Formats: sequence, C-alpha cells, structure tokens
Amino acid sequence: MTDLTEYMKKRRSSLSLTLDAPGPDADQLRSIVEIASRVPDHGKLGPWRFELWPIAVRQKMHGELLQLLARLPDIDDPQKKAQAADKILHAPCVIAVISTAGEHPKIPVWEQHLSAGAACMNTLIAANAFGFEAQWLTAWYIYEDQARSILGLNTGEQIAGIVHIGSSSVPKTERPRPEIDSIFSVREG
Ligand SMILES: Cc1cc2nc3c(=O)[nH]c(=O)nc-3n(C[C@H](O)[C@H](O)[C@H](O)COP(=O)(O)O)c2cc1C
Repeated sequence: MTDLTEYMKKRRSSLSLTLDAPGPDADQLRSIVEIASRVPDHGKLGPWRFELWPIAVRQKMHGELLQLLARLPDIDDPQKKAQAADKILHAPCVIAVISTAGEHPKIPVWEQHLSAGAACMNTLIAANAFGFEAQWLTAWYIYEDQARSILGLNTGEQIAGIVHIGSSSVPKTERPRPEIDSIFSVREG
C-alpha cells in the first residue's frame, strides 16, 4: 500500500475550533492554492477562485454579519447563527473557495459547481500535504442575499466552501462511514 493510499484511507477533517497557529506561510499558501486548483474542470473554464481572508478582514466581516443577523426578520435560532459566524475568527488561515459558475453554451452550471467542490476537497488535501489540519465549512450567511456584499461576492458568484486551515494536536477519531455495500453496487442486466 502506498503512502497516498494510507493517507486517503484515514483522511479526516479537524474541527475548525481546534485549529491554532501555525498556519501556512505565504509560500505554502500559494502552493496549497496551486495544488487545489488542479481539479477536473470540464471545458477548462476555471469556474472558481480562491480568496484568502486575513484576520482583519474576518473581524470586519464578522461584525457586519452579526449586525445583519440582528436586522434580519424572523430569524431562526439567532444564537446558533451567531456562533456559526464566530467560527471565521478562529483558525489562523481561512480561504474561501468561490464558484464563479455561469451559463455556458456547452458546460452545464452544475458541472462547474462540481469542479468548485473538487477545488474545496483539493484544498483540504493540499493543506494536509503541508502538514496542516483543515475543515470545509459553510454557514447560513453564504445563502443569505443580504450578506453577499459583506462577503465580497461578485454577481453570480457563490461560495462553495470556507476552508479553515491550521495546526491541531487534538486526536482525530474515526466517524461513522456508509457501509460500502449500501453505496456501491454493480448494475445487473
Ligand atoms: C459543502 C459542505 C459544507 C459543510 N459545512 C459544514 C458546516 O457548516 N458545519 C459543520 O460542522 N460541518 C460542515 N461540513 C462538514 C465538515 O466539513 C466536516 O468536518 C466533515 O464532514 C467531516 O468529515 P471528514 O472528517 O470525513 O472530512 C460541510 C461539508 C461540506 C461538504
């Protein structure tokens, strides 16, 4: 079995709230993004972009998200939503993977979003390759129209994932996984 097989068989995320310094330095970060962008991409459209959110940006964003939360009418479980917003403050490094998918004569938008999802997954793997831990999160605010300007999204863009990267000494335990026979079958006939 190769090292890669070993890694893939055991790969796990770490909770963002366990991620502390050090995070990747500028060179490592560039390499992580370079690796992360090597994803299957029908039509070679590059329908994604990566944005590093430095802590000062995250602090501003966080304040604006909480203000928005206080303004939104009929909000369900505001305390939980505030806690979800708080998470962007913790890890030393946070990268937003943004799907720039749009109508195209040949490539369906769905396939472009899938490529953005693959870019998120590759970001996790690339972070691990550099010895960091990572977690792919989303939150209510990525689906909230009024948060789009706070998040700096251009028209039509959508966040595929907010990837938190750092170091953690918290051991990772296995989590339940689907039984292989319940997700894999051979078509009969
Ligand atoms: C698109 C997407 C969004 C997610 N958003 C959240 C989230 O907001 N909060 C959360 O606790 N986990 C979220 N998760 C799950 C985490 O990434 C979690 O760490 C992961 O399912 C653990 O699996 P792993 O250890 O196999 O990587 C999300 C996963 C995906 C694919």
